[in-house]
Amino acid sequence: MSSFPVVRMRRLRRTPALRRLVTETRPHASNLVQPLFLHEGLTEPREISSMPGVYQHTRDSLRKAAVEAVTAGVGGLLLFGIPVHKDPLGTGASDPDGILQVALRDVAEEVGDATVIIGDVNLDEYTDHGHTGVLGPDGDVDNDASLERLAAMAVAQARAGAHVIAPSAMMDGQIGSMRAALDAEGFQQIPIMGYSAKYASAFYGPFRDAVESSLTGNRRSYQQVPGNIRESLREVDLDLEEGADIVMVKPAGAYLDIVSLIAQHTDVPVAAYQVSGEYSMIEAAAANGWLDREQVVLESIGSIRRAGASIIITYWAAEFASRLER
Ligand code: PBG
Repeated sequence: MSSFPVVRMRRLRRTPALRRLVTETRPHASNLVQPLFLHEGLTEPREISSMPGVYQHTRDSLRKAAVEAVTAGVGGLLLFGIPVHKDPLGTGASDPDGILQVALRDVAEEVGDATVIIGDVNLDEYTDHGHTGVLGPDGDVDNDASLERLAAMAVAQARAGAHVIAPSAMMDGQIGSMRAALDAEGFQQIPIMGYSAKYASAFYGPFRDAVESSLTGNRRSYQQVPGNIRESLREVDLDLEEGADIVMVKPAGAYLDIVSLIAQHTDVPVAAYQVSGEYSMIEAAAANGWLDREQVVLESIGSIRRAGASIIITYWAAEFASRLER
């Protein structure tokens, strides 16, 4: 006997059934969104070297991957295009036959109503300098000139069949200008999921391989300072004022404090993006036998859900959706 009254916290942890009963949150398949990459002109799907298990797709393999993900029960698909041709204005981004518009049309035709098809709205894959907007004479990204290009891209995606558009360029006023452009073209019903709190993070490293980014500098003049919290609240408030329907935090794992804060701060759905570097770290450790892959992936996704995100964008979506309840 203990000499003081021990509180028996372990009572509810004793059996698997008890632990199951008292679990507060668990991710469902429908919480997960699968990012998919279509590479223009590719004849065979190509594995991304820094993201084993993730592919640059051909048009055929993209359709198959979309069907697989939807069959597994994912909540949505987030599409990216990798063009062959890049130029200073990122012309391919808004071209009706640009690679992402092709992807959206193909996937809409293949799985259409069975899922939510989301397009990433950002010029960075389409510009030869790799920035998310167009450059001004001083070499920095020209905010207001970029807004017009991004709005045109959003409209092109809506026309191609996107159910939701997701602006990730971090230009001031991007949500408002896209909302106006979409409304003017008759797309009042297309929601905007803003990458609202998007940090200038080194965790995006492998993604730059995935989309063959030509960026040589960094994005610190438009993405957020990692040490800041209150700035995220301001970004979220502004996006909501401008008409965002869903707000996102990115990256997820190293920014769960921000996910939690924003989930308490807003009354719209909160998304979080478990980015390429989060994926690659766990895959690399698992490949070395240092971590239990299955357990760690489920724990990492579960922690994002617990922090308050109801939409979790993750490269493991399709694979792990089939292991979760729908
Ligand atoms: C912009 C975009 C990026 C990511 C998603 N959308 C790259 C960036 O902002 O540099 C990163 C996703 C990831 O790292 O998995 N097109």
